[in-house]
Amino acid sequence: MRIGMVMVVGGALLAGALVAAALLPGVQQGPGSFSTGQALVGGPFTLTDHTGKRVTQKDFLGRKMLVYFGFTQCPDICPGTLQVMAAALDKLGPKAATLTPVFMTVDPERDTPQVLAEYVKSFDPRIVGLTGTPQEIEAAAKKAFRVYYKKVASEGSAASYTVDHMSIMYLMDEHGRFVKHFPHPTDPDKLAEALAKLL
Ligand code: NI
Repeated sequence: MRIGMVMVVGGALLAGALVAAALLPGVQQGPGSFSTGQALVGGPFTLTDHTGKRVTQKDFLGRKMLVYFGFTQCPDICPGTLQVMAAALDKLGPKAATLTPVFMTVDPERDTPQVLAEYVKSFDPRIVGLTGTPQEIEAAAKKAFRVYYKKVASEGSAASYTVDHMSIMYLMDEHGRFVKHFPHPTDPDKLAEALAKLL
């Protein structure tokens, strides 16, 4: 998965440039968006959580949201980053209570609510898994959060596939507005320290 990893990190760097553009002085356009006319991160979504409940962005308002994108069959990037997320939550202590950590799948066909429930629980019971129909995930991950992902056929097997995706974490505020991105976080101490300043 070395090549896949390079692609994922390359994607994260690309996202970094995109999101950096969003951080330049610009115009806030209300809940769920932060615009310079070049980039918008966030926005309305309708998905299903890991308990099977239908949810929208409104269910997350009032608390900050730390959202990571990936898929449960990801061999290394996603589990590694979710471990970093879980460890950072522990390091934040009581401050983490102001935050809803979220794992949004980019593989809705295989990541059913049941699959996600087992998966997120194995990292931290506070993490909310989000899935939906392929169209709903495309609208949420690709269009609202601008996270690139693509199904890629596995070598030697037409029936199986992997998903190339950006490894990126977003912090959204209580109103669903973009605050900060963390491109491929790998150090729980640094992530917790950065989050602590923003919570
Ligand atoms: Ni992954």
